[in-house]
Amino acid sequence: MRALFVVLKPLCFLALLGYCPSATIRPKEGWQVYSSAQEADGRCICTVVAPEQNLCSRDAKSRQLRQLLEKIQNMSQSIEVLNLRTQRDFQYVMKMESQMKGLRSKFRQIESNRRTLLTKNFQELKGKMNELQPLIPVLEQYKTDATLISQFKQEIRNLSLVLTAIQEEIGAYDYEELQQRVLGLEGRLRNCMNKLTCGKLMKITGPITVKTSGTRFGAWMTDPQASPKNNKVWYMDSYTNNKIVREYKSVSDFVAGVESRTYNLPFHWAGTNHVVYNGSLYYNKYQSNIIVRYSFESGRVTTQRALESAGFHNVYPYTWGGFSDIDLMADELGLWAIYATNQNAGNIVISQLDPLTIQVLNTWNTEYSKRNAGESFMICGTLYITNSHLTGAKVYYSYSTKTSTYEYMDIPIHNQYFHMSMLDYNARDRALYGWNNGHQVLFNVTLFHIIKTDDES
Ligand SMILES: *[C@@H]1O[C@H](CO)[C@@H](O)[C@H](O)[C@H]1NC(C)=O
Ligand SMILES: *[C@@H]1O[C@H](CO)[C@@H](O)[C@H](O)[C@H]1NC(C)=O
Ligand SMILES: *[C@@H]1O[C@H](CO)[C@@H](O)[C@H](O)[C@H]1NC(C)=O
Ligand SMILES: *[C@@H]1O[C@H](CO)[C@@H](O)[C@H](O)[C@H]1NC(C)=O
Repeated sequence: MRALFVVLKPLCFLALLGYCPSATIRPKEGWQVYSSAQEADGRCICTVVAPEQNLCSRDAKSRQLRQLLEKIQNMSQSIEVLNLRTQRDFQYVMKMESQMKGLRSKFRQIESNRRTLLTKNFQELKGKMNELQPLIPVLEQYKTDATLISQFKQEIRNLSLVLTAIQEEIGAYDYEELQQRVLGLEGRLRNCMNKLTCGKLMKITGPITVKTSGTRFGAWMTDPQASPKNNKVWYMDSYTNNKIVREYKSVSDFVAGVESRTYNLPFHWAGTNHVVYNGSLYYNKYQSNIIVRYSFESGRVTTQRALESAGFHNVYPYTWGGFSDIDLMADELGLWAIYATNQNAGNIVISQLDPLTIQVLNTWNTEYSKRNAGESFMICGTLYITNSHLTGAKVYYSYSTKTSTYEYMDIPIHNQYFHMSMLDYNARDRALYGWNNGHQVLFNVTLFHIIKTDDES
């Protein structure tokens, strides 16, 4: 004979829902009046009498269930994102794997009748084969990643099934356990996503020409820290004698030439190696080794700091010159400066910077001459250096700040317009922004992700 007088207006219904969860699951509290609402004219429009305790806790449980379901939906979405991200790489891996298999069998064939073969060809093939050999464990690892994702999918599907069943028969399940399971899954998923966003550079595709504008030398970029909806583009033409930054609301506005703002910087810049990071522009002040942080929001320089002992003004530029001595960039791990010093014999020095104070947090010395580098960009704490700004450029050398080790590599990059004066990675877009002889171009990168399987327990 429980009475639940929800009369008329939805207002009352809301009041009921609002109250029940706070009446936590204490047993047998009997009847309670939770609210009685009156309209402005004083007319009583409804009376809400509390339902019996178990009915109320049933609502609390429903609410918990709804939340769990929502969480699971969120996780499903994340998994979809992961899927999309990895699909691209996965296709590449598959192709490479079959190529390798083909090569291996060809190699065996040749080995079996090698007498008929010229030694030179044989050596060539053998060299190629040896080059590819280390990729095999990487490929194996990649398969594990794919397995991990499909396991997540399966688990989420299972949980959804359980939840749906429970919704039909509330009370028959241990919520604590279910909650724990969801939380655990969520944690692992987050872990998985973090790892999947970082990886080793394997391939560069493109470019896509976004626009043709400006002089032969310049820079354009988006903010990797901006929210996904914010796609503002900043454009800084020329490497010297300029201090005008143009802002566009989106890439399509940029293409259409619809400017939203211009900023007149207080100091001229040097080179084309500026970066926009978390709402601020970081750039090298002309004829100095000072790094300037300019806030777009306040329209002011918030910080200036000299990069100690960094060469500047064409002492240690990239191969093309253009005062490109100090290259500022950002990746998944934060803000970086790439430069060279006399102490390191003109070889490239990597410093991680505090984005607020521009103080150097940590420094690594490489053995790659800055003047012999075409460009460089940072992905996941590894610096990749190209050997030229001209046709035939390739990523030739990499230095991992994580392990303080270097590696020679050979990743071609299509220098479509023959002169590259800027190349920077954007972690949000997972793309390389380039200024290619008056063309603003984008390259895609393929990264290899390695997930440790101890996450799977
Ligand atoms: C699901 O994602 C949305 C948007 O990201 C967020 O507002 C909401 O709190 C999430 N729900 C749960 C239960 O985590
Ligand atoms: C999902 O449920 C199926 C069938 O009940 C079971 O075989 C499988 O192990 C479960 N998967 C996970 C990841 O819990
Ligand atoms: C970005 O800026 C906001 C404030 O504007 C700050 O709270 C946040 O920590 C900054 N993020 C990074 C990665 O520096
Ligand atoms: C990068 O890859 C995405 C997804 O495959 C594609 O839509 C985009 O056009 C590519 N961009 C470039 C620069 O190749």
